[in-house]
Amino acid sequence: MSITLAGRVAIVTGAGGGLGRSHALALARYGARVVVNDLASAACEAVAHEIRAAGGEAIPWTCSVTDREGVFAMVEGVVQRWGGVDILVNNAGILRDRTFAKMDLDDFALVLDVHLMGSVNLTKAAWPHMRDKGYGRVIFTTSSSGLYGNFGQSNYGAAKMALVGLMQTLALEGEKSGIHVNCLAPSAATQMTEGLYSEEDLRGLSTDLVSPGVVALASENAPTRTILLAGAGAFEQAHVTMTQGIYVGDAPDAADRIEARWADIRDRASEVVPPSGAAQYSHEVNHPFR
Ligand SMILES: NC(=O)c1ccc[n+]([C@@H]2O[C@H](COP(=O)([O-])OP(=O)(O)OC[C@H]3O[C@@H](n4cnc5c(N)ncnc54)[C@H](O)[C@@H]3O)[C@@H](O)[C@H]2O)c1
Repeated sequence: MSITLAGRVAIVTGAGGGLGRSHALALARYGARVVVNDLASAACEAVAHEIRAAGGEAIPWTCSVTDREGVFAMVEGVVQRWGGVDILVNNAGILRDRTFAKMDLDDFALVLDVHLMGSVNLTKAAWPHMRDKGYGRVIFTTSSSGLYGNFGQSNYGAAKMALVGLMQTLALEGEKSGIHVNCLAPSAATQMTEGLYSEEDLRGLSTDLVSPGVVALASENAPTRTILLAGAGAFEQAHVTMTQGIYVGDAPDAADRIEARWADIRDRASEVVPPSGAAQYSHEVNHPFR
């Protein structure tokens, strides 16, 4: 094992079970001191105990990621106790699945609150400490439901894609402070996927086969602005790309030309991954087909 997280402090939210537990155990195995956060104290304590029993260092910390004051208090408590915070694994999550037509807006807001604002709360609390130190590794947990859509998960998909947007900008803002920010889109059989997919589909999707991706994203050599897909021991990357497109300028029949040339607009032959949002208007005002 050439990666070491010795001397690093990690906070993993939703670590009382499922993927978060696996991530916490894996980070500890690589030497990180781990804060095991979740809603229920028994679950946090059990995972912290498991880590200590394996020779690692861990403390349980019970609070909801939606409790802004509680999350700030957790970060301050951890900084006081261990001198800083280096790694955040924003993993806590819930589902409230229904088709959009039948969805209660309170359930829409709740899902956004846990996934998006929960991640914002923790990252905002830790950000100044990471900036002062000139080092940080932040991981947001996105999902294929956000990246590609999933029937019945408009709230969850919107929240998960919002985290990609958050990652894109925080990666740019964190760069000069040595803070690398990435997304993980896992596939794993957990209480969350139980009943959602068939047993057949979930075979081989152990949470332990995802966590090496978290360790790599938490390490010194981690990339930044990457969307890492992980499941069943396989790892892929998703990209948000821009095609070359077409130029119609101010032609009076511009809309008709667009309609006639969808194939050219979506042609992926020379697509790029823009380094930031500014690339869009820069490409447009200097369009190669002008
Ligand atoms: N399992 C998958 O295939 C899959 C796929 C894509 C994304 N994800 C994401 O991975 C993450 C982990 O999911 P999982 O499959 O392990 O689910 P899980 O339900 O097993 O674990 C989620 C954990 O988050 C905790 N949690 C929920 N709300 C919380 C809150 N407000 N504050 C603190 N903790 C809270 C839960 O108590 C639970 O322990 C989630 O963000 C989920 O959306 C999972």
